[in-house]
This record gives sequence, structure tokens and C-alpha cells, in this order.
Amino acid sequence: MKNEELILEAKKAREKSYSPYSHFQVGAALLAKSGKIYHGCNIENAAYTPTNCAERTAFFKAVSEGETEFEKIAIVGGVEGKEPDGMCAPCGVCRQVMMEFCNPEEFQIVLMDEEGRHKEFLLKELLPYGFKL
Ligand code: THU
Repeated sequence: MKNEELILEAKKAREKSYSPYSHFQVGAALLAKSGKIYHGCNIENAAYTPTNCAERTAFFKAVSEGETEFEKIAIVGGVEGKEPDGMCAPCGVCRQVMMEFCNPEEFQIVLMDEEGRHKEFLLKELLPYGFKL
């Protein structure tokens, strides 16, 4: 699947964002090696710490459905009511969750820059020396 298409799926996922506290909406589209796409959005909470990022929502949905092998993830984020206007790079916790299920030399993270251009990174670039048992 092309990065452009996966970014479109991430934008669709972002529409479901539950973010009444930060008003920052994030969407992720995770492509499994099976070819299936799992969508995720950020889900906030009044107590703040239970908040789940879009990327982890997508991963946890996928893993709970039996998927364990992944090819790439597209992520878009931005202030509510506006189109995303800059790169939304995954937080450290989400990078570590990716590390659990993905080969850092192969798994791709697709982001969108200010100009709407797609940037592709390998997990090993965003999480060098990530922890794995
Ligand atoms: N957020 C994500 O969903 N993914 C990230 O990689 C960074 C941050 C969410 C968490 C919170 O709901 C909002 O963005 C503002 O931090």
C-alpha cells in the first residue's frame, strides 16, 4: 500500500479522536503484514494519565485481534478544527510499543510535514537502542 493511501486512512481515524482536554486530535493507520489496516485515535481521560495515544490504540486493537506482524504505520495529528499542519511524531511510549512487535530495521513510520509531504522513517531511526528482551 502507498504511503499516500495510509495517510488518508490515518486522517479518517483522526475524525474519531476523543480529546476534550487537549483539543489535539491524532489518528493512526497501522498496516499489518496480513494486509489489514487497523485504525486508532487518541482517547483522553478526565484523570489525564489514562489517556491512550492513537498509535497505541491501533496496536492494541490489532494485537487483540490476533495480528503480530506489521509493515508500517501512518500518523497525523493537529489542533481540533484544523487540518494537520506539521509532523506529529510518535511519543516515546508508543515507540517502545512498536519495538515490542516490530523489527526496528524494517518497520516504517510515515508522517506528514508542514507542506503535506510524506516522510518515512524506520523505527530504528526514531528509537535507537530501543529495549527488547
Ligand atoms: N498523542 C497521540 O495520540 N500520539 C502521540 O504520538 C503524541 C500525543 C495524543 C495524546 C493526547 O491525547 C494529545 O495527543 C496531546 O498530547
